[in-house]
Amino acid sequence: MLTRRGFAARLGAGAAALPMLSEMAYAQRAAVQAAGMAKDMVWLNANENPAGIPRAALAAMNETLPSAWRYHYQEFRGIYEAIAKSEDLSPDQVLVGAGSSEVLHIAVDSLTSATRPLITVTPTYEGPVELARALGRKVILTKLRPDYSADVRQLVEEADRAHGGLIYICNPNNPTSSITTRQDLDWLVSNLPAQTTLLVDEAYIHFGVSPDLASALPYVRQGKDVIVTRTFSKIYGMAGMRVGFAAGRADWVTRMAPLRNNVVSIVSAKGVVAALADRKAIVSERQAAMDRTRRELCGWLKERKLAYIEPHANFIMIDTGRDARHFIGEMPKLGVAPGRPFPPLNQMLRVTIGTDAEMAKFREVFWKVHQS
Ligand SMILES: Cc1ncc(COP(=O)(O)O)c(C=O)c1O
Repeated sequence: MLTRRGFAARLGAGAAALPMLSEMAYAQRAAVQAAGMAKDMVWLNANENPAGIPRAALAAMNETLPSAWRYHYQEFRGIYEAIAKSEDLSPDQVLVGAGSSEVLHIAVDSLTSATRPLITVTPTYEGPVELARALGRKVILTKLRPDYSADVRQLVEEADRAHGGLIYICNPNNPTSSITTRQDLDWLVSNLPAQTTLLVDEAYIHFGVSPDLASALPYVRQGKDVIVTRTFSKIYGMAGMRVGFAAGRADWVTRMAPLRNNVVSIVSAKGVVAALADRKAIVSERQAAMDRTRRELCGWLKERKLAYIEPHANFIMIDTGRDARHFIGEMPKLGVAPGRPFPPLNQMLRVTIGTDAEMAKFREVFWKVHQS
């Protein structure tokens, strides 16, 4: 089966040993390229944002590059302050890392143990689950509800039964693009069992437009047992620059800071600060543009009576009506690479929302394979 591990296995032992929390789409990309696919492939497999690096960020990074021969350690206090301020947090509530991968890694490593499991839904973003397993920690998976939302009551029951643990929720969820509503989130935070921390991965939260979607950052500001992770890889279109952060209680941040892999690149950090200075315009413009393209795709799917999960992120799960591996195998031959398989949703194809031109190509190729 073409699983995440399968992609890595195709690339040999070296790739299989890659860090667990990296998005394994690069393994998929390499596997597809190794098979001799088109150079102008439309990549709709890694939930990247084709809007790209914001102009202000690019200018700041170009300006910083010549001086990047120095470490610039002394500048990071100000950089962390700017990141914290952007979300009305104090700098001691923020832990910055190389993408949200690094801070998710730290959270999972430090908040699970031999007696404290990771408790989450299936399917969800595999990074935290695979890391916990690699560390030999117990992982408890609960089923999504029929509307693909997290069953918050079940998560609490499992944490209660385990006498505490780390509950991980990705909101909106990858790969389903579904959400945990603000009411469910509120119930979950109010009912967290003892010795339990809630980790909310908000990598895609800026792409959601539903009034039912809410950030968990207010709980962090209130000092609850909640950690939120954010990334500059998605709405900000800076995936290759590798910056993300976790927000949590100051005592947690103090404890976790030594586990960080040093600072991020000064070039990336300056880019992020410049992007944040322009964040209102960047987020609203990009959200609106992506939402328009996403709606157009949903309309097209509806016209063809193709089922899909209502999307709240920059990707969509389409019910192909048969084993999705057929599409995953055939579409790249025609120039479009969709996402990898996400068992147990074996008929579902995850597709990143690209540019309008890319989505036009997607529709053409998807329909061709669908009719074959
Ligand atoms: C839900 C989710 N969280 C975290 C990440 C990690 O991304 P990054 O390390 O670029 O922030 C990804 C990557 O695609 C993701 O889908």
